Amino acid sequence: MNNSQIARRMQSVRPSPTAAISDRVRALEAAGRQVINLGEGELDFATPAHISYAGIEAIVQQQTKYTAVAGTATLKAAIAAKFARDNQLHYRPEEIIAGSGAKQLIFNALLATLDAGQQVIIPAPYWVSYPDMVRLAEGEPVIVPCSEQSGWKLTPEQLARALTPATRWLILNSPGNPTGAIYSAEELRALADLLTDYPQVLIMADDIYEPLRYDNTPFASFAQAAPQMTGRTLTVNGVSKSHAMTGWRLGYAGGPQWLIAAMQILQSQSTSNPSSISQAAAVAALNHPAAFLGDWLETLDQRRQQVLRMVAATDGLSASAPQGAFYLFARCTGLLGRTTPTGETLHDDSALANWLLEQTQVAVLHGSAFGMPGYLRIAYAVEDGLLAQACQRISDACAQLR
Ligand SMILES: Cc1ncc(COP(=O)(O)O)c(C=O)c1O
Repeated sequence: MNNSQIARRMQSVRPSPTAAISDRVRALEAAGRQVINLGEGELDFATPAHISYAGIEAIVQQQTKYTAVAGTATLKAAIAAKFARDNQLHYRPEEIIAGSGAKQLIFNALLATLDAGQQVIIPAPYWVSYPDMVRLAEGEPVIVPCSEQSGWKLTPEQLARALTPATRWLILNSPGNPTGAIYSAEELRALADLLTDYPQVLIMADDIYEPLRYDNTPFASFAQAAPQMTGRTLTVNGVSKSHAMTGWRLGYAGGPQWLIAAMQILQSQSTSNPSSISQAAAVAALNHPAAFLGDWLETLDQRRQQVLRMVAATDGLSASAPQGAFYLFARCTGLLGRTTPTGETLHDDSALANWLLEQTQVAVLHGSAFGMPGYLRIAYAVEDGLLAQACQRISDACAQLR
């Protein structure tokens, strides 16, 4: 196959930068280099044992056949109970869908609703996949850069400026990747107030990092904060980040029945049901209290503090404390334009991230990948000893720049 045979729609899509860095890390490791990967968006913790055993039990009990496309009745009941318990959102089974990761559900929702040229408001910095998914669905991403001063959050003034008659979706991700920013219920309500005049706009609430919060920061889902918006909100969640289950590929969403039905049709003609085994494991995840969460958060918080200390002590780097998720989004403009010991000038965040990888064997992601040049995303959900080594290597390397 050559380039002329690849569909035109592919021209607007880039490979996921997170997947690209992981490929690069694997290649360096295959060449015998010891890389510490702070680029990966997943917890290093094991999937809790009771969840894994539920998956094994499903295999042994022959729950290994097709299920209903949107998930088994048992899983839907567990999802409905989770939404009611944690978010005071009350969805009927026809308003719930499970898919192969939150990623698939977001993609299906956009594909099912966007006509060519319709706009999707995406606050930046954003999760890398949103704009490409919008473009694949022939929509137009409208990127709104948010500022560190506003806590990396979209303000009502910015939303007011971005809304047009062509707006179809607003995507909100809280706690956010890559900044860990969390919207308060009041902030969500202020955004919702503006949307009253735009009844055609749907809201995607990507809550995938919901339980991973620090300093007792409260959480509100969009439709929970603004119940009048429930009929046009898709609440997306999953077990990838909450239960260290990225490889199980199980996400879920609640929303208006017409939208869920359309997403289900797409799913029925593409991937069908998510893995029956992962569904059984997700039932165990959602139905049991997350007794492990306290320990996880304590560990993650210590790591967050460790990376914050390193950044504060490194000339040229700075960051505010993230409230959630497991990423630190560090400003690196103070290092840009500086020269390496071998005479290379690091003009942008991408050059800096590449140099750090080559020089120190530590992988981090450049802010431009998230629509915010001049920053680095440091994922700190890696084992303590490795994280300490990585921090040391980053600060030593940065000290060599002139
Ligand atoms: C903000 C955000 N949404 C969605 C996803 C997708 O999660 P899943 O593993 O459930 O597909 C990710 C994964 O990195 C993410 O960071």
